[in-house]
Amino acid sequence: MNFEFPPGWTDRTLAAVRANLLAWFDQTRRNLPWRADRDPYRIWVSEVMLQQTTVAAVVPYFDRFLAAFPTVAVLAAADEQEVLKLWEGLGYYRRARHLHAAARQLVADHGGRLPDDIAVWDALPGVGPYILGAVLSQAFDRPLPIVEANSLRVLARLLGYRGDPREGEGKNWVWAAAGRLVPPTRAGDYNQGLMELGAVVCTPTTPACPACPLAEICIAKRDQLQDAIPPKKKVKVITEVSEVGVVIREGSRVLLCRRPEDAGRWQNMWEVPHAPREDGESTEAAAIRIARELAGVEVVAGGEVMTIRHAVTRYAITLICMDATYRSGAFAPGFYAEARWVEPADLDGYPVSSPQRKLMTEIVSPNHQRRLF
Ligand code: ADE
Repeated sequence: MNFEFPPGWTDRTLAAVRANLLAWFDQTRRNLPWRADRDPYRIWVSEVMLQQTTVAAVVPYFDRFLAAFPTVAVLAAADEQEVLKLWEGLGYYRRARHLHAAARQLVADHGGRLPDDIAVWDALPGVGPYILGAVLSQAFDRPLPIVEANSLRVLARLLGYRGDPREGEGKNWVWAAAGRLVPPTRAGDYNQGLMELGAVVCTPTTPACPACPLAEICIAKRDQLQDAIPPKKKVKVITEVSEVGVVIREGSRVLLCRRPEDAGRWQNMWEVPHAPREDGESTEAAAIRIARELAGVEVVAGGEVMTIRHAVTRYAITLICMDATYRSGAFAPGFYAEARWVEPADLDGYPVSSPQRKLMTEIVSPNHQRRLF
């Protein structure tokens, strides 16, 4: 990629960007738990969590995760189910599975050390250019760039990039820009400053330019193009999906099923069987069919427990959850890898998706229990 600085930019401009950003970050940096030291393990965990999630949402998860798995060796020795459980609610669970697999690789091949070595990190599951740059710049002061949603916006505006930095050639451009701007020292603070600036000042709409340490240098500000740079994301076409979930009971226990290793999402996590409702199918008929097709058991359908609306990528899902009573048949692996009859009080111990957790919270609520018995 042939990256060029904007016309008129000199080495002094570049030095000013770095110095202004670092000075601003030194003054305003939020006190976040992973900023207390340069422990590569803590930084790595934080960056994996932060990759798709806001700082506010991450903090409590980070604290719980580090309390449970204080070192890479402890994480590597943990069961994947424990790791998923501590990730429950954060979403993008593949991140947790990769983090766990990578911890095992570091213990198996590198004695549990997290080295200042690009090749070692590059070979770990789940480590792409973002995690590589974020961890090695913050932990070891390596001058490696990072690009994520916030820094992408800051860089595109600062340099006045008119294309879409999220796509095709634009992606190459923004990584090349980040690589040319990252300073030879304090790269970790600089990278965090860039993200922080995007998060708190250079926000997607109505950025707070008067508070920006780069305002004097910013091309978008000069040309009044803050609203147009970067271009708005294409609007996703949302598809409505109607699903039925079935709470199969035998006495007080509920049939809980584990999704397989190769499920598209929520791999190895637990749930009550659910699937799209067919055209014209009643919720009762759907519950009976889904119990049979997914879990191999015959049920008598009961009433509706609750309706949950949630979104998965470009799908808006309405999940109608039905009660059902087990009649006959035995669970056989097929759609699901495994199933267990679980007492409601024990449901909390299993890693489940957020919509399923809503359902389980309802099942164990005193109100619901009163309705049943
Ligand atoms: N987003 C991703 N990583 C971050 C970090 N280290 N500080 C602030 N925001 C971030």
